[in-house]
Amino acid sequence: MLELHAVSRSYHDGESELRVLDRVSLQLAAGESVALLGPSGCGKSTLLLIAAGLETPEQGTVTIDGQSLQALDEPSLARLRRRELGFVFQDFNLLPGLSVRDNLLFQRRLNGQPEQDPWLDELVSELELEALLGRSVELLSGGQQQRVAIARALAHRPRLVFADEPTGNLHDSLSHRVMRLLVRCVEEASSALLLVTHSAAMAAYTQRRLRLDEGLLQALPER
Ligand SMILES: Nc1ncnc2c1ncn2[C@@H]1O[C@H](COP(=O)(O)OP(=O)(O)O)[C@@H](O)[C@H]1O
Ligand SMILES: [Mg+2]
Repeated sequence: MLELHAVSRSYHDGESELRVLDRVSLQLAAGESVALLGPSGCGKSTLLLIAAGLETPEQGTVTIDGQSLQALDEPSLARLRRRELGFVFQDFNLLPGLSVRDNLLFQRRLNGQPEQDPWLDELVSELELEALLGRSVELLSGGQQQRVAIARALAHRPRLVFADEPTGNLHDSLSHRVMRLLVRCVEEASSALLLVTHSAAMAAYTQRRLRLDEGLLQALPER
């Protein structure tokens, strides 16, 4: 479903060059969930953004469902992202000026999906968003925004979910509930999940664990 092949990416800061990803390759099949671990600043968010077509690699290719992202024009890439991908951003990236409900429905409306759906009701209930639906997102706390960000990423039933530290602002019991929800999405919809986390407890929910460090990706041993 997702394939990264020999992806490299550096950032430049004046004279110095920081090689964040050094020929990183990764495959994610339908029905598979993978956790990505590694020290702060090692490039986990960069890898997720590149995999979702939100950043471009300097070298290498990203393929989703057999389609090379580099080969797509911007409207086609936008359509693919809107329909097939769900992204929980590390800093939430909610749509300011809109209510929680409008944030949740935004992609569904663009996709022509119905606004009433048992799946949406379930997300609202699981993430305890009932009382927040009419609120403006910029007035919410960090934990509340994170819950909206998770629901927003799943609302249109994406086939490929990227979640960047989605439980960082949540208390323990809600974090476990979010992980069960993400893993259930993957199993029921035969979608795929790439999760960034620094929590071994959250990573334990996924089928495979990878570690990124100094630009290189390595598989962590099976439990
Ligand atoms: N847009 C950018 N411009 C310059 N440097 C960046 C940019 N984005 C990330 N970096 C740097 O690249 C490295 C990896 O960042 P990031 O992917 O956010 O790491 P992680 O998510 O693992 O904490 C960090 O050193 C960060 O400062
Ligand atoms: Mg990050």
